[in-house]
Amino acid sequence: MSIKDNNHFCENFFTKEDVDFLKKTIYDYYNSTPKVLVDLEDIKQNGYPQDKIMIQPWSGRSSFDLTPFISGNILNKLKEYVSSYKNEIDWYSFLFVRYSNEFGMPLLSPHCDDHDTNFTIDYQLDSNTNWAITIEDKDYMLVNNSAAIFSPSEQVHWRNHKKFLDGEYVDMLLFYFTTKTDFKKLTFNEKREIEKKYKEKYFNNINSKNLGVIYNNAMEMI
Ligand SMILES: [Fe+2]
Repeated sequence: MSIKDNNHFCENFFTKEDVDFLKKTIYDYYNSTPKVLVDLEDIKQNGYPQDKIMIQPWSGRSSFDLTPFISGNILNKLKEYVSSYKNEIDWYSFLFVRYSNEFGMPLLSPHCDDHDTNFTIDYQLDSNTNWAITIEDKDYMLVNNSAAIFSPSEQVHWRNHKKFLDGEYVDMLLFYFTTKTDFKKLTFNEKREIEKKYKEKYFNNINSKNLGVIYNNAMEMI
């Protein structure tokens, strides 16, 4: 079943035990690991470093590869969830992301993901502020332990601009899957074409607020 035609929002996604386990594992690592600034050009040439927490100032966030931390019970639950849509999994990769003005101005402009991922579970682990995710003009207001489920390579998605206060954060676990089910693999140019009008509106709105430096290439790179 194509998730593109069945976007949805799911509350109480994990059990309390799972959430406790995820928080302990993730925050033990996050709080004890140095965060480094990685140049955009470096990322383009060498890919994302696998063993560091990266600061990405163009999005006001830090992130790391979560895949090695997710195994056993939780991995099985995720796979079962994707498979319940009659999807056979081909590939998966997971990412932890913290948005906070500690790293720059949190920003996620309209984009289609560059990798061919047709099933994502955008899960909010923890947050002390509200920040809706928009998928093709529909807003999903995430709360802790809820998720928005959609096809990020096919569907344009973003977060409307919000000025974070000091100390505010949004922690997301992005569970990306590619399935063997037929889906429309868009070309690089097709994705840019879809994004165009949304991006224009988004940046016009931000620039009209005169918020200072905006990275014109600010888009999710993963
Ligand atoms: Fe994305």
